[in-house]
Amino acid sequence: MVDQGIERVFMTEREVRDVVARLGREITGFYRRQDDLKLLVIGLLRGSFVFMADLIRHIELPLTVDFMTVSSYGDATISSGNVKVVMDLDEPVEGKDILMVEDIIDTGNTFNRVIGLIRYRNPRSLKVCTFLSKPSRRTVDVHIDFCGREIPDEFVCGYGLDFAQKYRNLPYVGIVKP
Ligand code: IMP
Ligand code: MG
Repeated sequence: MVDQGIERVFMTEREVRDVVARLGREITGFYRRQDDLKLLVIGLLRGSFVFMADLIRHIELPLTVDFMTVSSYGDATISSGNVKVVMDLDEPVEGKDILMVEDIIDTGNTFNRVIGLIRYRNPRSLKVCTFLSKPSRRTVDVHIDFCGREIPDEFVCGYGLDFAQKYRNLPYVGIVKP
């Protein structure tokens, strides 16, 4: 079923599932070696909630979750790099092993700022997981530890990603009609 308003499917439901399962295995393998693990998985709302819900069920380790909402100032489609914390975390970060989860890293501006905020709170370790990445759009360098898939410069939606707040509920990733 392809939704009205979607030009074509970019990643099928099956492809999405395979990518998320692979990331879960990578993350499990990475943290399994660590003694006294205090894994706190932090999702950036709203885009990451669908991905993160699936991802944590593929991480076979004890963990806790928290969420944070940030918004960019100014133009909605061009990331300015100035972020405002709209809803902060409930959990302290200090001394924990933080895994930041994002839906898509585009210019890298938003995530770069958020990583700065988290690092300032002295986690024991800080790793980054993103479902999608558009490397050709990057304006600031963001180190990604676990990347679902690199994609070309196209606007995608579904699986948590929105276009004007719509399409987050699509089980696949699609490209919006122009
Ligand atoms: P950045 O600061 O440019 O990296 O912006 C990242 C944010 O822009 C993501 O969290 C998304 O909310 C949004 N974004 C960037 N590209 C897309 C896309 O193709 N589809 C949906 N949202 C996107
Ligand atoms: Mg977002």
